[in-house]
Formats: sequence, structure tokens, C-alpha cells
Amino acid sequence: MGESSEVASHKRLEGKVTIITGGASGIGAATVQLYHEHGARVVVADIKDKQGQAIADKLGENVTFIHCDVSDEDDVINLIDATVSLHGKLDIIYNNAGVMDRSLGSILDTKKSDLDLMLRVNSGGAFLGAKHEARVMIPQRKGCILFTASACTAIAGLSTHSYAAAKYGIWGFARNLALELGEYSIRVNCISPYGVATGMTTITDASMIPMVEEILSKAGNLQGQALRADGIAKAALYLASGDAYYVSGLNLVVDGGFSIVNPTVIQKTPNHNYN
Ligand SMILES: NC(=O)c1ccc[n+]([C@@H]2O[C@H](COP(=O)([O-])OP(=O)(O)OC[C@H]3O[C@@H](n4cnc5c(N)ncnc54)[C@H](O)[C@@H]3O)[C@@H](O)[C@H]2O)c1
Repeated sequence: MGESSEVASHKRLEGKVTIITGGASGIGAATVQLYHEHGARVVVADIKDKQGQAIADKLGENVTFIHCDVSDEDDVINLIDATVSLHGKLDIIYNNAGVMDRSLGSILDTKKSDLDLMLRVNSGGAFLGAKHEARVMIPQRKGCILFTASACTAIAGLSTHSYAAAKYGIWGFARNLALELGEYSIRVNCISPYGVATGMTTITDASMIPMVEEILSKAGNLQGQALRADGIAKAALYLASGDAYYVSGLNLVVDGGFSIVNPTVIQKTPNHNYN
């Protein structure tokens, strides 16, 4: 989070009430910290109770943990209603919770249980979240709804078929929702990350993060740096802030240009002196 304290001198979410699902780990946890630094009141929603509560305890009174399985509608209703009764309103929600299924394989080997999990948690969780957020935001006639989709919405081959189906579903849903909720001044946007070394991608523990970052960085387009969770948190800060006041229906692909590059094209002229 190198620059965040410096940036936070201009608090971009002062007084805003926000919910971040999947806030106990990875991209969600980085966003909780950044939103908090920018003056927001943050509700961390996750199934990882210990980790979510530890983040709330560490950051203090403006950060609360509420247990929520995003695929369970009763949990989602409770999350939204408890947030509103605690803070009196809801300005921003980042529907970010997600899971990955098994490693890449043929459609012939894909089990229905893989698809069920992806649809239940990834797209189903985003859908239920948005439904109950809209219930609160429509009467307010303002709000900001964000989703984490994936760079697999911009290029093939980055994920399993089930994951791609679920994440494309989020993007399609977000577009439809942006249309319905535009009338109420509610902005709806997606963020689609390239690979980030998080709980989802670092096979065992945090000590593997540098190695995974290096692999992802080398496989990427933008050389010399790796995408970290704070890079996605910063995109989520922009989209939640007043700077994005007229941005709705966007899929912000944060992939260093990976999805627009045809890997068969040799980009740099051999023997050219770039210095
Ligand atoms: N890491 C990547 O490379 C990458 C790339 C593209 C998109 N994404 C997406 O980013 C989002 C965040 O993932 P991450 O990389 O930070 O991984 P992560 O595993 O570190 O964090 C995901 C969080 O979601 C929570 N979660 C899982 N199922 C839940 C449920 N049913 N209800 C509530 N919370 C639940 C987990 O407990 C965890 O805290 C996910 O939607 C993921 O699909 C990640």
C-alpha cells in the first residue's frame, strides 16, 4: 500500500458507508484498508470470521465485521439491514467475494458441481448482494455498486470454463443493472483483475506470494512490476469516489494490457536500441 497514506491526505470517501464482501482476505482486505484510510465507514463481510474480525479490531471503530455467506440470501439481507441500522444509510458496496474451482481442464472433465459452486458463490453472491443493495439505494436515489469480475471477461484461456461462465455472468448482470438503476442515480461497475497473488492464487501460504507475483508478472504484458491487491483496491477507490461520478456500466480491466496483446505478435523490433 506504498502511496496510500500520502493519498489519504485528500480523503476521497469521507463519511461514506461502505460494504466490502470477501473483505477478510486479498483484494477485499486491501480495499477495506484503503477505503478506511480515505475516511469511509467500512463493513467487512466474509465467511472467514476470525480474519474479518481481526481486520475490524486492528482498524478501529469505523470498521465492523459482519459474518455473511454471500450465497445465502438470509445472510445478505442481514448484512444490508444491519449496516443500515448501524450507519443509517449505504453509499457503496463492493461485491468482491469469490472462489476458484479446480485447475484448468477440458469441458469434458468439468463437473456440474464445479459449475454449481461458481454460479452459487461468484455470480449468485453478486446477484443477491445487488438485489438487496438496490432495495436500500433506490429510495436514497443514489449509490455505487461494484463487482469483481475477472480479466477472463476480456480474453479467453485465463480460467476454467465454470469460472469464466460465472464471471462473464457478473459482467452481463452489471450492464443490465446499470440500465435499470441509472434512473435512480446509482452507478454500477465491474473491476476485472489480471492474476494477483492472494489466498486464491498462492497455493499454501503468504511466503509464496513473491514467487507467484514473479510468475504472473513474467507472463503478463506490462513488465517490471506485478499487479498486487492494492492495485485493484485503487481501482475500486476511483470507481467509488466522486471522481467517477459519471462512470457507470464500465468493466475496468486491470491487466496491464494483457488482454489486448496477441502473443504471436513480436512487439519489439529486434536490435532496436530503446535507450
Ligand atoms: N486473485 C486473482 O488472481 C483474481 C483475478 C481475477 C479476479 N479475482 C476475483 O477477486 C475476488 C477476490 O479474490 P482474492 O483474489 O482476493 O482471493 P481471496 O481468496 O484472498 O479472497 C476471497 C475472499 O472471499 C471470501 N469468500 C469466499 N466465499 C465466500 C462466501 N460464500 N461468502 C462470503 N465470502 C466468501 C473468502 O473467505 C475470502 O476472504 C474474487 O471474486 C476473485 O474471483 C481474483
